[in-house]
Amino acid sequence: MASENGVCFQVVLFCMFFAVANSIDLSYPAAFNFGDSNSDTGELAAALGFLLAPPNGQNYFKPPSGRFCDGRLIVDFLMDAMDLPFLNAYMDSVGLPNFQQGCNFAAGGSTILPATATSISPFGFGVQVSQFLRFRARVLELLAGKKLDKYIPAEDYFEKGLYMFDIGQNDLAGAFYSKNLDQVLASIPTILLEFETGIKKLYDHGARNFWIHNTGPLGCLPQVVAKFGTDPSKLDVLGCVSSHNQAAKTFNLQLQTLCNKLKGQYPDANVTYVDIFTIKADLIANYSKHGFEQPIMACCGYGGPPLNYDNRVSCGLTKILNGTKISAKGCNNSSAYVNWDGIHYTEAANQYVASQILAENYSNTPSPNKMPFLL
Ligand SMILES: *[C@@H]1O[C@H](CO)[C@@H](O)[C@H](O)[C@H]1NC(C)=O
Ligand SMILES: *[C@@H]1O[C@H](CO)[C@@H](O)[C@H](O)[C@H]1NC(C)=O
Ligand SMILES: *[C@@H]1O[C@H](CO)[C@@H](O)[C@H](O)[C@H]1NC(C)=O
Ligand SMILES: *[C@@H]1O[C@H](CO)[C@@H](O)[C@H](O)[C@H]1NC(C)=O
Ligand SMILES: *[C@@H]1O[C@H](CO)[C@@H](O)[C@H](O)[C@H]1NC(C)=O
Ligand SMILES: *[C@@H]1O[C@H](CO)[C@@H](O)[C@H](O)[C@H]1NC(C)=O
Repeated sequence: MASENGVCFQVVLFCMFFAVANSIDLSYPAAFNFGDSNSDTGELAAALGFLLAPPNGQNYFKPPSGRFCDGRLIVDFLMDAMDLPFLNAYMDSVGLPNFQQGCNFAAGGSTILPATATSISPFGFGVQVSQFLRFRARVLELLAGKKLDKYIPAEDYFEKGLYMFDIGQNDLAGAFYSKNLDQVLASIPTILLEFETGIKKLYDHGARNFWIHNTGPLGCLPQVVAKFGTDPSKLDVLGCVSSHNQAAKTFNLQLQTLCNKLKGQYPDANVTYVDIFTIKADLIANYSKHGFEQPIMACCGYGGPPLNYDNRVSCGLTKILNGTKISAKGCNNSSAYVNWDGIHYTEAANQYVASQILAENYSNTPSPNKMPFLL
């Protein structure tokens, strides 16, 4: 009964989302996205040359699509709502990728700070911005030749397009492996300075519409709980690692301050701060109300309850460890889970988050009694 109510709730939200989407201006001709695995639509897989294993992709794309998910990501649902096609990854060279209505520079594992020798992704935010600048320069060059118009953005799309950002989670998550909470908190201004530098470069090259996602409650990810939550005193009432969520909140406060500063500096730009943390924290805390059965445990993993996560074997893979063969398999019903693989959200959770973003008023000054998802 509870889960049936949950489904009804989701359907209602979805209708709301379409109604609102129709009444607000979402008419961007193109979107350019920067980020990490939360919005990677195939970049890391193409760049590093690997195939994600099934059951990644199973709910929607069928074969794995390069997304760390059983289906669509938040960015996919947002593109749908804007009547734009799913974004192709910048480095995806096979399958005639069409970049006319945007391009995705986000790569799994990316940080805002420059990559180091041990980074998963060499494409830190600064590199992603450089890739965009190169993309833009090449497009302007090719437009002059008039041969590839069908595959590349028109010149004015760079000004009229939407620039989306979802990055920072890996800076914080990674820092905890070598720093304590105070040190992580102290590093946040440096991280955000690097972010600001990238945004300014984009503005200087004509970007005017910025849509900036804050970072989610990373202390609730099974990967983090498994590593940092073995001592129960480190966990909050939801079973999430308190220090990581504290760092995420502090990061978000300073990111919001930065967004306000940018609004002041660039009166001819639209800067929208999207409060992903609040939406995801509410989803995890009130999961059954939102139609889910498992708020934290990974759907695809190894080890069983309470986390079903083992950092030695990723979703879809099998390994022989200690003479024993272990496989990280998918659960039977991923839409009952918030978490997909210990680090990323399921398509069902992403759909819920996107519906919450889109159901809100896009006004930059929401009424005070509303949840301030968009500020
Ligand atoms: C900001 O957004 C509004 C509403 O979507 C739009 O009318 C306006 O042109 C945008 N401003 C810029 C600078 O693109
Ligand atoms: C859970 O839902 C209750 C009731 O709507 C709300 O007051 C609370 O803030 C929610 N929890 C979180 C963490 O958002
Ligand atoms: C192998 O298994 C034993 C017994 O479960 C355990 O004590 C040991 O740490 C394991 N070794 C490795 C490398 O995982
Ligand atoms: C999935 O469902 C099958 C059949 O109902 C059951 O045997 C199996 O244990 C389930 N697997 C998981 C991971 O829950
Ligand atoms: C899967 O889980 C969802 C959410 O709890 C539920 O609504 C649905 O009925 C489940 N599907 C199956 C086949 O059990
Ligand atoms: C959004 O908020 C503005 C100002 O508060 C209001 O005038 C408008 O009707 C709202 N739009 C929607 C779709 O809620």
